[in-house]
Amino acid sequence: MSFLQFSVSGVILVSTLLGVGGFNGYYSFYIRHCHYTQKNISGVEFIYSAWFNKAEYLQFNTTVGKWVGYTEFGVKNAEEWNKDKGIMAMVKAERDRVCIANAQLHIDAILSKKAEPEVRLTMGKPSTSGHPALLMCSAYNFYPKLIRVTWHRDGQEVKGDVISSEELADGDWYYQTHSHLEFTPKAGEKISCVVEHISLRDPLEITWDPSMPEPERNKIAIGAAALVLGLIVTAAGFIYYKTKSRGRILVPSG
Ligand SMILES: *[C@@H]1O[C@H](CO)[C@@H](O)[C@H](O)[C@H]1NC(C)=O
Repeated sequence: MSFLQFSVSGVILVSTLLGVGGFNGYYSFYIRHCHYTQKNISGVEFIYSAWFNKAEYLQFNTTVGKWVGYTEFGVKNAEEWNKDKGIMAMVKAERDRVCIANAQLHIDAILSKKAEPEVRLTMGKPSTSGHPALLMCSAYNFYPKLIRVTWHRDGQEVKGDVISSEELADGDWYYQTHSHLEFTPKAGEKISCVVEHISLRDPLEITWDPSMPEPERNKIAIGAAALVLGLIVTAAGFIYYKTKSRGRILVPSG
């Protein structure tokens, strides 16, 4: 009588048919869907549907509250099953087991996960806009996908000249995105990229330092340190030479 027994006999029927002709095969399957339309997971809409090859012939939708058939065979089964209290109770139990018990596991395992974006600002070559400069703001390794990247110029959000890419899936649950700003630099202005993401308590603002890229600044710092060291060594050598030569003069001769 029961639901599962029916599915099993359905599968047996399919395999019997397979044995007859030179077919590639038939395919019979049952799908359970959980549609969560609200935050409250107990308000889930549960769909249990039966398919044969590419045709869905029978479906239970908890919002409709009964079985509906889409083929002659489906309609016959729907009529029977709608009268069967055991099957109706089993559908409700399946909804609770598949949709409600699992939802909290999925929420805990997936939705609660967050990864902060790593944001980098780099200079690039402008393409066609006619502006001489291009900045690219890249956010890497964030989760979930939803993110907002904006540009600010002297505290004002920039509206034009922004080309944003889609969020790209890295294939390992993380996402990346890149936003371009083509612009004409002005002396003394402040340009920054602002990233908003659920993993960040406050928006992350990265300000472009037009003075010099980091590696150049490091090279100059190393050069300056070497120069100072060189001067110290020279001075020490000079003092040593002076002391030595003075000492030689002080030694009485003969
Ligand atoms: C279930 O039934 C309701 C009411 O007819 C309908 O709005 C909804 O789209 C159905 N769900 C699916 C997944 O077909």
